[in-house]
Amino acid sequence: MTNGYEQNENEQALDILNLPQLEADAKKIIPTGGFGYISGGSEDEWTLRANRTAFQHRQIVPKALSNIENPQTDTTVFGLNLKTPIMMAPAAAQGLAHAKGEVDTAKGVAKVGGLMAQSTYSSTSIADTAAAGEGAPQFFQLYMSKDWEFNKSLLDEAKKAGVKAIILTVDATVDGYREADIINNFQFPIPMANLTKFSEGDGKGKGIGEIYAAAAQKIGPADLQQIIDYTDLPVIVKGVESAEDALYAIGAGAAGIYVSNHGGRQLNGGPASFDVLESVAKAVNHQVPVIFDSGVRRGSDVFKAIALGADLVAIGRPAIYGLALGGAEGVASVFTHLNDELKIIMQLAGTKTIDDIKQAELLNLNY
Ligand code: FNR
Ligand code: LAC
Repeated sequence: MTNGYEQNENEQALDILNLPQLEADAKKIIPTGGFGYISGGSEDEWTLRANRTAFQHRQIVPKALSNIENPQTDTTVFGLNLKTPIMMAPAAAQGLAHAKGEVDTAKGVAKVGGLMAQSTYSSTSIADTAAAGEGAPQFFQLYMSKDWEFNKSLLDEAKKAGVKAIILTVDATVDGYREADIINNFQFPIPMANLTKFSEGDGKGKGIGEIYAAAAQKIGPADLQQIIDYTDLPVIVKGVESAEDALYAIGAGAAGIYVSNHGGRQLNGGPASFDVLESVAKAVNHQVPVIFDSGVRRGSDVFKAIALGADLVAIGRPAIYGLALGGAEGVASVFTHLNDELKIIMQLAGTKTIDDIKQAELLNLNY
């Protein structure tokens, strides 16, 4: 219990049927306000739903006579050797799901040999979250503050903690219209560890709108350039949905492009993230790695995203639900299950390696 908010403390491996089912299971144990914040999208959640249905727009053409067995999911991206192309998306306030928050998420992702991104608005500090990964690679996701000194202190702390790259999120300069949070009158009950030094306070007792208001609303290539000039870590731009933004970002020195619509939590009425992936990846044309997220729930979703140009595929909500249900072991169970689904699809599609998936053919038949 923190400030009257009941926190889960489960630590157990999960017997998972599928990732979509985790939402209903987690709803039973996460308090209403916290669950609404985690599961919710913006406005009528059209884009949130489109993120799922978009995966039906492309179909995998199996090559059954490929003479392969025992598909391998290891991959190297940003110079990191990973056992899986599936990574943890940056997600704020994981203390809403579990008392250990991002520390347990870091342990779970490290256990499966994956990559974790930690959020500026994390419940646990940069250093504690990094230490919990015990050397497993992590990225730090930055929400630019209006206060450049604060930005520098976060970038310095991230570098000192050993993160391998910075993710600059650019699609959340104000909060999407989150109706669940309005209905629940949701304010964060748990402090955001990285904000304690911030003049605006630690986030406790505030809604996401107030938190975002203290961040920067105006972000352009010059701001990206300023961050790139300040840190010697690679800087990846998250929230890209157009070729124009991707080329702007690369032109300013971005080391990676992260195609995402924030899991349908921000601009409602925009396209499904999967539906813009191919055009953005084509524009990037292998100049830098591409990360993809929003709506990924199946091994076939991961396969299709990689086939359309993603080098890494991130999940948010399913991992948070796994955290609530089982702590670090629960998070590890989620990534293991999704990676196992991916291996089945790889075998049936006739692709032994991640590189083989990148050559795979997807059809575009209208069903
Ligand atoms: C997020 N997301 C997010 N993104 C980011 O750049 N910084 C952040 O702090 C957060 N916080 C956050 C909290 C919660 C509860 C959720 C669900 C999401 C967005 C996240 O990185 C990712 O883009 C989406 O979660 C991907 O969609 P799915 O997998 O949740 O459908
Ligand atoms: C959200 C912010 C914190 O999606 O990114 O809630």
